[in-house]
Amino acid sequence: MMTVTTIEKLSAHVGQVVTLQGWVYDRTSKGKLHFVLLRDGTGIVQCVVFRGTVGEDFFQQVAGAGQESSITLTGLVKSEPRAPGGFEIDVQAGRVLQAVTGYPITPKEHGIEYLMEHRHLWLRSKRPWAVMRIRHAVIMGIRNFFDERGFTCMDAPIFTPNACEGTSTLFEVPYFEQMAYLTQSGQLYAEAAAMALGKVYTFGPTFRAEKSKTRRHLTEFWMIEPEMAFATLDDVMSLAEDMLSYVVAHVLKTRRAELVVLERDIGKLEKIVAPFPRITYAEASQILLEHPEIKGTELAFKAGEDFGAPHETIISNLYDRPVMVHRYPAAIKAFYMKRDPSDPTKCLSVDVLGSEGVGEIIGGSQREEDLDLLLSRIRHEQLPEDAFGWYLDLRRFGSVPHGGFGLGLERTVAWICGIEHVREAIAFPRTIYRLTP
Ligand code: 4AD
Ligand code: MG
Repeated sequence: MMTVTTIEKLSAHVGQVVTLQGWVYDRTSKGKLHFVLLRDGTGIVQCVVFRGTVGEDFFQQVAGAGQESSITLTGLVKSEPRAPGGFEIDVQAGRVLQAVTGYPITPKEHGIEYLMEHRHLWLRSKRPWAVMRIRHAVIMGIRNFFDERGFTCMDAPIFTPNACEGTSTLFEVPYFEQMAYLTQSGQLYAEAAAMALGKVYTFGPTFRAEKSKTRRHLTEFWMIEPEMAFATLDDVMSLAEDMLSYVVAHVLKTRRAELVVLERDIGKLEKIVAPFPRITYAEASQILLEHPEIKGTELAFKAGEDFGAPHETIISNLYDRPVMVHRYPAAIKAFYMKRDPSDPTKCLSVDVLGSEGVGEIIGGSQREEDLDLLLSRIRHEQLPEDAFGWYLDLRRFGSVPHGGFGLGLERTVAWICGIEHVREAIAFPRTIYRLTP
């Protein structure tokens, strides 16, 4: 019986004959030898095909197998410290399933637009492969973290009747006789579930009709939203720093090879350990108002306004780990955020800015639990009161202090991977300019 295995498991098979199933990543040939770089989705390994061993027929088949030909190879696993991954296969036999030539993505440089047009194929290349494997580790880290802490995962609806995060970025969809919107956030439903289950989180796709073409914006992205009954802003911040530290540690433990493929500075990730610095919006504003790089320029910070990307970058570059900026002006934040009792012009909100200048990866707050105050906020923002009837019920029946946050998965993956643009942190990105493939 031949053992079929995968490249990531080769260390358990040194000295044995195994079969690998995959694709030709690259091939060089010299006389009676082919050196096939085989990839199988779990890694890449060099396979040596010697004519004298495999016979003329198979040797010629491999000679005709260009990049991305599908192939199975059977051979002896050898330890080879000089080979990529540390192993080499001495091939004894094999089968070419489909020999192809003219694969559109060659190891030479392609422009990003060309690569995005070919995303369905580009995913097979080393860099997207490494990013997708790290994305998976981030997801597993998040799920394990919440599970260990007694959170229940609940799923919020995607069709919703109303806005959560402002009305300007809603996608409308016809819904029988009425209009529905694709959800911008599962938070309002997570609040209802927190009153039922105590500690919950949602993990689902969210949608924003963002016209912005920045490196941080997708129109469809995945959000993780924990919500806790009986929690204050401090509890929300502690949860955020513990979760991020846990997730980064999980990636460092399970995805080192992938971080190396991405040439990620691992030392910088090793510093991501709680506690994270906490500064108020007012303190951050003071730093920005006096910052020589932007003072008097068109990028100058205006007191009381939201931070732009360059402002977040300046603040985040002050620290070697994520920084939590709390207590923003209530006027620039969402209607559901609780006012700061010691200064009602501020709200009990927090934005977590990733390290190395990447900007906001988490937004959260303590929620307004008082019925009358919440109702007046809804009226003030001219939101449709009817649609919020059920949400107001949460303040009518056993209201308690509570809070939570939303973590953007793609921004977090991009930050951990050290990649510039969120579009590479999801398999098939959706942006203002891209709906295909
Ligand atoms: O700060 P936001 O808008 O917060 C909320 O939606 C709250 N309801 C969350 C909560 O408290 N439960 O979004 C949260 C996070 C951002 O910090 C960012 O990481 C991500 O979602 N995000 C986006 N990611 C990619 N593309 C976009 N267009 C994004 N908009 C927000
Ligand atoms: Mg935000």
